[in-house]
Amino acid sequence: MRAVDLIRKKRDSGEHSREEIEYLISAYTHDEIPDYQMAAWLMASWIRGLSRKELAALTEAMLHSGEVVDHSYLSAKKVDKHSTGGVGDKTSLILAPIVAAGGLAVPMISGRGLGHTGGTLDKLEAIPGFQTSLSLSDFKKVLGECGMALIGQTAEIAPADKKIYALRDATSTVENIGLICASIMSKKLAEGIDALVLDVKTGSGAFMRREEDSVALAEVMVETAKRVGKKCVALITDMGQPLGRFAGHSNEVMESIEVLRGGGAADLRDLSLELSAWMFYLGERTKTVDDGRSLAVEMVQSGKALEKLRDCIRLQGGNPRVVDDTSILPLARGRLEVRSARSGFVTDINCLDLGSALAMLGGGREKKEDRIDHGVGLEFHKRIGDEVQGGEPLVTISYNTDAQLRAAQEMTAASYQIGDIKPPMRPLIRRIIGGA
Ligand code: URA
Repeated sequence: MRAVDLIRKKRDSGEHSREEIEYLISAYTHDEIPDYQMAAWLMASWIRGLSRKELAALTEAMLHSGEVVDHSYLSAKKVDKHSTGGVGDKTSLILAPIVAAGGLAVPMISGRGLGHTGGTLDKLEAIPGFQTSLSLSDFKKVLGECGMALIGQTAEIAPADKKIYALRDATSTVENIGLICASIMSKKLAEGIDALVLDVKTGSGAFMRREEDSVALAEVMVETAKRVGKKCVALITDMGQPLGRFAGHSNEVMESIEVLRGGGAADLRDLSLELSAWMFYLGERTKTVDDGRSLAVEMVQSGKALEKLRDCIRLQGGNPRVVDDTSILPLARGRLEVRSARSGFVTDINCLDLGSALAMLGGGREKKEDRIDHGVGLEFHKRIGDEVQGGEPLVTISYNTDAQLRAAQEMTAASYQIGDIKPPMRPLIRRIIGGA
């Protein structure tokens, strides 16, 4: 088999056999196919699309490019959640301790921020000392001791995705349903889980902006998980505005702790509880999703979820005192209010631009090797539908340098549309795929 023939086949809208896809993935993982040929194949696939059969073969080939983690040492069911990413989306930091406190194991392999979206690993690294690059054996040790562990992709987990993802990022071949599905599902299935809850975002801050695209992505991901015998459900949720009141790394750790203490913004709390409820249900910890919700609430109210977070931070080398004193997180030096130019109602928010403004302040990366400034952040004072007076703050920016402050300030202000008519309420959870 030759890569050049497979590129031509896809360019001309052909359908690959399972063997062809297995060859492509295995040869690329072992450096037998150069980046330029893989990039050409990715672009051909982006344009021509992948059939369901090709997608299944691709996901499985990427999954088996590395190890599938064996958690047979655990008696609890293993359940994880994956979000397609957004602004202020910090539910992993909240639901992992809730679900672990409720008796399931959460072996979470997370990602870094991508484009305008934040990443769980970067957020955790705001906690002084927290280690996200554990070896697989240390990952299992932490998981065995406290029922949750949050790490980055290791060399053993879906190495094909690690290589292909970097290439996609540099060749504008990220936003494709088939390629996203294979990328996410190969990593998640390699975690050795029994069940997976997907949070597929839709709206201005999501990779899939249109709801029908988010639904199509959710459907192929759920189908992929079920085909390999895993329970899976996808919640289509709103990313037309930031989730919660804060974005930025220290900010989001603080807000997560606030939710685990029983407070926090209603949308963030509700979504975290709902995702936890589905995890309890799919992990067979409760008989119904309603019972799962009650258990999640109980884990917060009893303080057990917060204690679980403290244990995990300690076991992963972080300073567990952060749970009681968030002032030990890196904080920004300056604060600046972005005020509304007029009175009215917030009718729309460009969530992508808010994420990009945060990235410009140092809270995201332009290049893979860029360092994150964990202290910078945004605090959102108004949500869609809120009334606002001229001159009232929309957002508080926390910053460390003046470098891009002006541009970030202008971008933030332009992200808010203010009109005269109060817009209708947008439901946070739009649809549930695979839950029947
Ligand atoms: N997250 C991933 O892990 N992969 C994608 O392709 C997109 C988002």
